[in-house]
Amino acid sequence: MKFKFLIPSIAAVAMIGGTLAVTGVSQADVKTSDGYSVSVAQADLGATLKKRNSLMKNISKTRKGLSGAAKKGKIGPAEVAAAEKLAALTKQLDMSLWPKGSGSDMHKTRSKPDIWNDTADFQKRVAKMQKAAADGATAAKGGDAKAVAKAMGDMGCGGCHKKYRGPKVK
Ligand code: HEC
Repeated sequence: MKFKFLIPSIAAVAMIGGTLAVTGVSQADVKTSDGYSVSVAQADLGATLKKRNSLMKNISKTRKGLSGAAKKGKIGPAEVAAAEKLAALTKQLDMSLWPKGSGSDMHKTRSKPDIWNDTADFQKRVAKMQKAAADGATAAKGGDAKAVAKAMGDMGCGGCHKKYRGPKVK
């Protein structure tokens, strides 16, 4: 995956008071192997963009399999495990994966800047998805295929995408 920004090159690094500092980015100090304290804020952001995207893809894949099985009335140990995995995956989604300034106006990402214009609404949708996934896990443990299928439909994927997910990036 390519990002619009570049990892700060050595030319952008200035010696200040014995530690290395990078100009123009907020500091997130990390010790490098040669003992210097270097800001890697932008490198961290790259990892964050990657993480939220792969997490969402994993949620999608897990939900698809589970939803398909539930619609056929099939809830066994594999489905219970999938439902528990899905609930755990959704719990990993929080606003630390959407730091301010990580939207599609600045980076190659599908996350629209609207996320930060109405963060409360976005968070409400995340919470709704987490609750539906947790309900799905409870229903799966109870062997209730119908309730699992319903919970999968209650995760609110399309509504959130319509508002906060932009077009595919190359
Ligand atoms: C709270 C809002 C929200 C909810 C709910 C949500 N998504 Fe997403 N989804 C997003 C955003 C924002 C992105 C873009 C993430 C990024 O920056 O890469 C995304 C990205 C994705 C992607 C990656 C697409 C790609 O090719 O880059 C998939 C797949 C996906 N979502 C599936 C789902 C499914 C399935 C559900 C329901 C179980 C769901 N999402 C629920 C907001 C949401």
